[in-house]
Amino acid sequence: MKIVSASAPGKCILFGEHAVVYGYPAIAAAISLKSTCTIEELTENKIELILKNFDEIYEFRDLEDLFERIPPQLEQIKYFFNNIHQKLNTQIEKVKITIFSNLFPSSGLGSSASIAVALVMAFNKYFNLELDKRDISKIAFEMEKIIHGTPSGIDNTICTFGKLIFFQNNKFHYLEAPHDFKILVTYTNMNHNTKLAIEQLRRLKNEEPTFCNFIFDKIRFYTELAELEINQGNLIEIGKLMNINQKLLAALNLSNDSITEIVHLANENGAYGSKLTGAGLGGCVISIGNVDCLEEISKILSKKGYKSFIANIDKEGGIIERN
Ligand code: MEV
Repeated sequence: MKIVSASAPGKCILFGEHAVVYGYPAIAAAISLKSTCTIEELTENKIELILKNFDEIYEFRDLEDLFERIPPQLEQIKYFFNNIHQKLNTQIEKVKITIFSNLFPSSGLGSSASIAVALVMAFNKYFNLELDKRDISKIAFEMEKIIHGTPSGIDNTICTFGKLIFFQNNKFHYLEAPHDFKILVTYTNMNHNTKLAIEQLRRLKNEEPTFCNFIFDKIRFYTELAELEINQGNLIEIGKLMNINQKLLAALNLSNDSITEIVHLANENGAYGSKLTGAGLGGCVISIGNVDCLEEISKILSKKGYKSFIANIDKEGGIIERN
């Protein structure tokens, strides 16, 4: 029986989140936690969809049945089937699709983009669609729009292509990650909603355009400076710039007490710098520093009730794991 499995990494935004939605630059890293999608051929005539993280199993007679009955919270998966169906000469039938993610959902680590990329990659291989990574990223971007409203495209890009990227207006180039570049990722214990955070900032931008544009210009300045420091491998300077970016995000009302506490604890205990990552208002905080020091900080944060892990940069992006 045919079986195909694909995976895609999660991500952290190191600089420039939110401003990137308005065409400013940002820097993102793919991280070593992944989402996986497996497609198995079935003998029975049905489409089975298993969402392992939620212990949910859906069974559909065929694609028509899927379009009719798929629950509204899986709107992006419905879009995906519609999109893929139009690209296929054959029917989508007799398949079991299993999706699993190691990423905390709604935490700023790109779980939705990572799942979307893994899903498209697995279908691409299973049905020999011959999509390249740009096509895959584009479909994932359309799926992201359904969940996040007006995303910039950075999440689907980094989850598809991996590594460390400088991104602006849907174009990107790779950056060389500094030697021994590890990121401590700490969960605030609060989910966030990217769509709502983007909308909140859009309202502020409508009310206070001069102020927001002023902050966005500063974010651009420090993001461009960060690119230079990354190229020099200067971790201490990169950390300082992260601290500045955090203050600028706080000025846009995207931080909160838990984020502030984690940033403070990490920096007090030797991190070079810390900031929220992704949409903010919850989600995760990232810190960089010497690896031993990050391990110590992780223990300190755990005593305060915050789970954290040290992430490596993923070097591959979306890949076929099993074919
Ligand atoms: C989400 O990971 C990052 C935001 O900048 C939104 C986006 O770029 O699509 C908040």
